[in-house]
Order: sequence, then C-alpha cells, then structure tokens
Amino acid sequence: MLEAIKTFYGLKRRPHQGDIHQFAWNSQVYAMSNENLRGYIADNPDMRGARVLSVCAAGDHAFESLLAGATRVDTFDINYMQKYVMELKMQMIRHVPYDHFMDFFFASKKFDRQIIRPIWSKLSLGARVFWRELCRDPSICMWAHYNNYDKSKCLSYVGDAGAYNRLRDIMPDKINFVQSDVLNLAGQIDGKYDVVFLSNIMNYILPQAAYITQLMDFYERVLTPLADHHLNDGALVYFNYIWGSNTNIRWREQFRDLMVDRDMIDSYNLSSHHEFLSQEFKSGIRNDLELKRDTVAMMRHRARPGR
Ligand SMILES: C[S@@+](CC[C@H](N)C(=O)[O-])C[C@H]1O[C@@H](n2cnc3c(N)ncnc32)[C@H](O)[C@@H]1O
Repeated sequence: MLEAIKTFYGLKRRPHQGDIHQFAWNSQVYAMSNENLRGYIADNPDMRGARVLSVCAAGDHAFESLLAGATRVDTFDINYMQKYVMELKMQMIRHVPYDHFMDFFFASKKFDRQIIRPIWSKLSLGARVFWRELCRDPSICMWAHYNNYDKSKCLSYVGDAGAYNRLRDIMPDKINFVQSDVLNLAGQIDGKYDVVFLSNIMNYILPQAAYITQLMDFYERVLTPLADHHLNDGALVYFNYIWGSNTNIRWREQFRDLMVDRDMIDSYNLSSHHEFLSQEFKSGIRNDLELKRDTVAMMRHRARPGR
C-alpha cells in the first residue's frame, strides 16, 4: 500500500525533464531502450552463462542479456518508476501475444489499456497505479514517440516474434531491482558479476565536463568501487554508449580512439588492472543513415591478487 502511495505521489510531483536530463527517483520513464542492444549483446560469447548487473531503464538490457544466454540478471536504477516498466513488460512477454505487445508500444495510439487488461490482476499495486496514470497521460513516458531508431533492428525480442516467444520461455520469475544512484551502487548490492551494463549514465554525472574528466571521475567514483567488490576476474563492464560515433564531429575531435583515449589511460595508470576497449558496430538502425556507427566503451577487469 505504501508503495502505491509513493508511486502516486511521485507521478504527481515528477520533475520537468530539461535539456540536460537530470534523472531522479520519479522522472519520466524510458519505455524502450534507445541503444542498439542487439549490436553489442546478442551473439556476444561473454554473455553465455554470465551473471549480469545492468541498469534497469526499460528492462531491455536485461531481456537482451537473457536471450544472449545470461543465467541471472540483477538491475538498478535511480528512477524508481523504471521497475514498473520492466514489470509490465515481463508480464506481457509471459502472457500477451507478440502482436498485442507491439500494438501497445508502437501503434499510433500507444498505451491502450484494453491490451493490458488480461494481465492487470498479475501486476503489483504500485505497477497498477503507475500504468493507470501512464495510459491516461503518455507524457509520463520520455519521448512518448521514442526516437527515429528502428527498434525492430535494435532489440531482438521486438524485431522478431520468435525471440519474443523464446524470451517468454526463459523469463525468470523475478529480476531483482535496486533503486540506487550509480554513485552509491557498490554499497547497495551483494555478489559478484561477469558483465555489467551502465548504458550512458556516465555522461550525466558531470554533464558539462570534457569527456576525459567524465571518464576519470566515473572511473574513481563508480568503476573502481565496483571492481573492488563486485566483479569476477575477467568481468566486462560496458561503461558508455555513443551514438553515431563516426559521424558525430564532437566525438571524433574529443578523443582519438573513439571511446577510449589511450594516452590519458596510460598517463593516469588506469590500465594496471583494467583493460580498456571500445567496440564500434554498425547501428543500421536508422533507415536513412545505414552508414552510422555506434560505439560502446568497455573495461575488462583483472583481479589483483588477494582482493
Ligand atoms: C542514462 S538513461 C539513457 C537511456 C539508455 N540509453 C537506454 O537505452 O535505456 C538510462 C537509465 O539510466 C538511469 N540513470 C540515469 N542517471 C543515473 C544515475 N546517476 N544512477 C542510476 N541510474 C541512472 C535513468 O533513470 C535511465 O533509466
């Protein structure tokens, strides 16, 4: 009951999303990822049998991970409401046919409550409060019309009814959710992980700073505490995502090797226990810009003896 009251209050008092997004516990939600998750998660051998820690967002990093062979996924998000997006999608994938799911999220009249009537009684009280409001007021969802990426190419279960049905078969009963700022994450979770997905949160911690300052700050305040307590040897942390890294002049000028400036990493001795990598892949997700490429930055962790 308390959760339902908190949710109702949070929705009524939600902050305005400005130009530079400030994320809070009750911000507008993402209903679909805007990354090409298929591009770096599907077919990734590191995912097989992996224990994964991921930002929750729309639940899509978790779903793509399960499809790629992860055995367990735990999630976190600063925005408390994101857990309701993931909860609804989990119930829909389990009980609602693919075509109805697609209509709910992608038809010109989105969020038609009739479509989710069959699973209404399966939702938590908080989720019912949340979805009743969102169906009435789609502006609770950030970018109600999403962007112009072709989701069917970015998310396996959206692009392919077969993957949607496979996800239904492997969907766990529960995916853990912790409400936490990434800055406090290491102290809020237990256990060790093989793969961590941090999306592009890094860019919002010091939004006005140069990329290198952002990376140094994030390395000290987020990546190091995670590595010290929650990474298995050889774990991969996907710590940033850049859209159109080959066409976006700002990124090309700011650093040489797309996501990772090797000189900076050497001069700050960041690589003593972590190997920094970047993976560029064809986004292929905007029909008009097939040559656009996205990049993810990654860090591979090597445990120090005795830690
Ligand atoms: C940075 S946003 C960008 C959207 C993302 N590219 C996707 O595919 O969903 C992703 C998620 O990060 C969460 N987030 C933003 N800042 C955060 C922070 N400091 N700590 C934890 N989560 C945060 C947001 O609430 C949102 O759900």
